[in-house]
Order: sequence, then structure tokens, then C-alpha cells
Amino acid sequence: MQIADRLLKTPPYPFAQLAALKAKAKAEGVDLIDFGIGDPDGATPEHIVEALREAVGDPVTHQYDETGKGLPEFREAAVGWYEDRFGVVLEADREVLRLIGAKEGLAHLAWSVLNPGDAVLVPDPGYPVYKVAALFAGAEAHFMPLEAGTGYLPDLEAIPGEVLERARLMYLCYPNMPTGAVAEADFYRRLVEFARSHEVLVCLDMAYSELYYDGYRPQSMLQVEGAKEVAIEMHSLSKTYNMTGWRLGFAVGNAEAVEALEKLKSNVDSGVFLAIQRAGVAALSGPQECVERMRQIYQKRRDLLVEGLAGIGWKVPKPKATCYVWAPTPKGYTSAGMAEALLQEAGVLVTPGSAYGKYGEGYVRFSLTVQGRRQEERIVEAVSRIKEKVRLG
Ligand SMILES: Cc1ncc(COP(=O)(O)O)c(C=O)c1O
Repeated sequence: MQIADRLLKTPPYPFAQLAALKAKAKAEGVDLIDFGIGDPDGATPEHIVEALREAVGDPVTHQYDETGKGLPEFREAAVGWYEDRFGVVLEADREVLRLIGAKEGLAHLAWSVLNPGDAVLVPDPGYPVYKVAALFAGAEAHFMPLEAGTGYLPDLEAIPGEVLERARLMYLCYPNMPTGAVAEADFYRRLVEFARSHEVLVCLDMAYSELYYDGYRPQSMLQVEGAKEVAIEMHSLSKTYNMTGWRLGFAVGNAEAVEALEKLKSNVDSGVFLAIQRAGVAALSGPQECVERMRQIYQKRRDLLVEGLAGIGWKVPKPKATCYVWAPTPKGYTSAGMAEALLQEAGVLVTPGSAYGKYGEGYVRFSLTVQGRRQEERIVEAVSRIKEKVRLG
């Protein structure tokens, strides 16, 4: 059987490899402490689950989602949430589109706006979907290094003129996965100028917008004047409401980009189960205390991990946002070497930074969504195992 060249050129999805490593360690009887995939270990809040139960009982929800951009109540809930959270006013009919999770929207956006031969500006390190989507669309990914010295923001001046001429889309992610870095209004203002003058659509992946700590609150790019002309933002209910398995997100921003994405999606998928969209209304418009509780849980874990590692001589910055700790590897280790040492010597699973691109080399990523139970104890145990078993330079 023939397999498409575009697929043959695509490396395996990094988390599939991680899942295999995990399965192997478990089969060997290793008591694994799992900081691997960023998949919330907590349950979806009860009022959201209850809204789903009720919606499932209504046969109207059992049919195709023929709502175009999504259930009107869901889009209105997203509009209300955006205004409360960011002070940004959106038009539910033109500027909001429900997604089968942010991942789906990020991938399909490339097909919606790119032609073969176009360039796509992709952060490195970054979520692997950006570059794969570019490849699938026949476009060429140009990687923008994200480095500690520049706060993990891309250097817009460093993008070669020849690339800029062909660039039609830029993916960015703030709060950033995997580095935990954040971006401020000043950067977004420069970005709007840049996007305008080079006719580039900016797609800001905001899957982690609600995971923030120490009184810090991430902004939306759409808060900057003129941003709607050049930007689309992808949101996810996955991390905010512990709903990764439900597959629900939404895109907001530039109406033309939203329209194009809707047209593409209407040709390849049939929307989102209406009952899930109704539950999404309960999530976005209901009580938000559950989100604050989740932040407190991650903040505590972050502090236990970062302070614990500092205590054994591994200095790692504390992220202001996201559920990730981006740890520079100790001297003498590559990313993969450190991840392997942690797994083999201490039974601690992390992701090598190199899985996110060339500039992720020299780091490993700890996810604070520690799988299993007694997470805080497990974090303390992980630190003590690392201290005892892993050479830290
Ligand atoms: C940076 C980033 N964007 C998007 C997603 C996917 O979100 P969703 O579950 O809504 O598809 C993830 C998931 O891990 C992510 O890390």
C-alpha cells in the first residue's frame, strides 16, 4: 500500500514515543513518577459533567452539528468569557468558531490560509503541530528560535527578507509551551505592526491562558488596537477545565480567517457533539472557582518541584504561567541523555526539550500534571530520587 509522502516525511508524534517508553517502564515494573504529557490529572468540574448529563438526555443533541460556526449559546458564552477575561468585545456570528480542541484548529488553519510554497513562521521550541500543519499544507516552516536571553520571544528582526516575502502565517504560543514564558502588550503591539507590514496572519495559541500564578495574568493579543486585522487566537477548554478528552475549543479574531477555517472544517469534519457544546456553555459561563482551585494546585506543585530541585543543586526558573517547568539540563547532559538518566536511574519521566525542536536541546520539560495519585508526595519523592540516583554535574 502507498503511504503519502507528506506522512512519510513526518516524524512520529513525540507523545506517542513517550507513551511507548512509559508502557515499557511499567511493564518492567518500574514505579514511574510521570511528569510526561501535559494532561490534567484532575476530574472535570462536577457542574460541567452535570450539564453534559442533562444535555445527553435531550435527543436534539444527538443529531449532526449543523450550526456552522458552532452552537449559538456556545459562541455567546465564548464572547462573554472573552469580555470578562480580556475586555475584548467579539461578534459571535463572525469572529468565533468552535473547534474540536485547539489542536484541530491549529492544524486546519494551515490548510485554510496557505498555498504551496508559502512560508510559515514557527517557534522553536514549539508544539509539534505547527510545523507538521505547515508541511501538510505544502508550505515551508521557517523556525524562529526562542531563547532564554530574549525571554523566549522571537526576534522578528532576524527573519530573513526572502522568507518574509513568502510568509503568510506565524504560529506563536503564549503562555508558552514548553518554556512557560509569557508575552506582554508591548510585544503584541510590535507584532501587530510587523504582521500588518508583512501581511502575515498571526495565530496565537492560548491553550494555557488560564494557568497563571503569583498574581500574574496573561493578556490576549486582541487587546492591542488593530489586532483583529491580523490575528486569530486559539483557545482550549482542555487545560482550563480539565477537559482534554472532551475535545472542545474555539477560535476567535480575524473574521476572514475564522470564515476560511469554518469553510475548511465544514468540508472535513461535522462539528462537535452538541451536548459537549452545551457543557462548554456551563464551563465558560458557570462559576470559575474551579479554575482558581486548579491554579492553586499547580502553583503548589510548581513550588515543590522548583524549590526541591534548587535544594539539590539543580537551578530551574519558576514559570509565571502554564503547567510546565522548563529545566536546563545539568552540565554534560543532552536533553535526551538527561531524560534517559532520569527514567533509567530514578524512574522519573520527563520530556526531552529536543522533542520540541532544535532550540529545545539543553532542556527537559516537567509537566505539573503529575499522573497517578498523591501528586505532592510524588513530587517530593521524585526530587529525593533524583538527589540519590542522578549525577547533577
Ligand atoms: C501548546 C498547545 N496547544 C494546543 C494544545 C491542544 O489543545 P486541545 O486539547 O484543545 O487540542 C496543546 C496540548 O497539549 C498544547 O500543548
